[in-house]
Amino acid sequence: MKKDREQWTSRLGFILAATGSAVGLGNIWRFSYVAGVNGGALFLILYTAFILLVGYPLMVTEISVGKITSRNPVGAFKALSEGTPWWLVGALGVFAGFIILSFYSIVAGWSLAYVIKAVRGFGSDMDFAGTFVGHISSVWPPIIWHGIFMLITIGLIAMGVVNGIQRASKILMPVLFGLLLILIIRSITLPGAGEGIAFYLKPDLSELSFNTILAAIGQAFFSLSLGMGAMITYGSYLKDKEDVNGSAAWIAGLDSAVAILAGFAIFPAVFALNMDPAAGPGLAFITIPAVFAQMPLGYFFGILFFILLSVAAVTSAISLLEVVVAWVVDEKGWSRKKAALMLGGVIFLLGIPATLGYSLLSGVSFFGLDILDTYDLIASEITLPLGGLLMALFVGIKWKARSVREFANSAPGMIKIGKWYDVLITYLIPVMVGFVLIFGLISKFRG
Ligand code: PHE
Repeated sequence: MKKDREQWTSRLGFILAATGSAVGLGNIWRFSYVAGVNGGALFLILYTAFILLVGYPLMVTEISVGKITSRNPVGAFKALSEGTPWWLVGALGVFAGFIILSFYSIVAGWSLAYVIKAVRGFGSDMDFAGTFVGHISSVWPPIIWHGIFMLITIGLIAMGVVNGIQRASKILMPVLFGLLLILIIRSITLPGAGEGIAFYLKPDLSELSFNTILAAIGQAFFSLSLGMGAMITYGSYLKDKEDVNGSAAWIAGLDSAVAILAGFAIFPAVFALNMDPAAGPGLAFITIPAVFAQMPLGYFFGILFFILLSVAAVTSAISLLEVVVAWVVDEKGWSRKKAALMLGGVIFLLGIPATLGYSLLSGVSFFGLDILDTYDLIASEITLPLGGLLMALFVGIKWKARSVREFANSAPGMIKIGKWYDVLITYLIPVMVGFVLIFGLISKFRG
């Protein structure tokens, strides 16, 4: 079934690409603010549990679906179960790709704008919250940065130079990691940081609610790039001989490590600087410059940080665009260039209301959420968990867990998955994710 398709040149190439997809704004921007809104430590525990119980098994599943079929998400389900409606699971993933990238690119645009702001200096008044609000509530600059970010993403996908980018990330991502460590040291040594560490590590069980559980599951899916076929698509470029289980462990492990470290960089500083951990989407953009302002060489580290955050965002964004591009290239026979340009253009337009929600359309809200948060809710807390749930059902009902396990274990590699996989994917994941989705959404919409 393998046609003339490009393939990753090595196992490392695949791991880098998939880790590049996973590690992004989700680990720093989204993780920290969602954890902040949802009680800190309790959220961290739930999130970690979902990574292990739901994230890892689904990562193995998605990579296997892609690897065995060499197809985009829609084509993969068609190939595995001809003539049934299961391809709709892939279609749901493509839908999620449009929605996620449209707001992801807005936030990535904030990050690009912050590179320039960091170069110029944030001003002596140190009003980081004011700077953030000033930026997002202006009309044109966020749209222009969103456009620049989409052009970069479209260009990389159209030219197919993705492999080169991943190789650059091999150097850049460890630097980001190192910078996070520096931020952590500064953050936890600020006077008053202890309260933040407690917030992040000492769970307050009174915060437990379906809403929090749903937020944790949504974040686990978002951060690992699961539930929408990004890992199916990347798995589809994997050679037969390459290992699945070990790669999945690397990807999930590195991704969670970056997220958890970001929390240690942000929460101690939030408390030390008397900020509100539940401040929402601006949390990282307000806190991080404030921490850099408190350290020697902070000016340079700050610039470097936002450059690296933007690079991390690019390597995630290309995986989002790749899902929708692979779909029309495989299924409709479009050229890569045309697909990248046209679909990237649609995504650009779709993103505009999300940024205008902070300026011209600031009166518009759905259940108390602004437009960007509404996109995020639809994608991250509804579509991704639903997609993951349906993929697990697909394995349970159609493909059979044992066949997936045997397929994943047939590739060389140190990690072999056991029968626990069958239990998790067939029973636990569908029941648990279904339960969290239903009760989480009920509690959300009841207010
Ligand atoms: N995982 C990416 C991040 O954390 C976002 C993403 C979600 C990418 C879904 C692909 C698919 O930033």
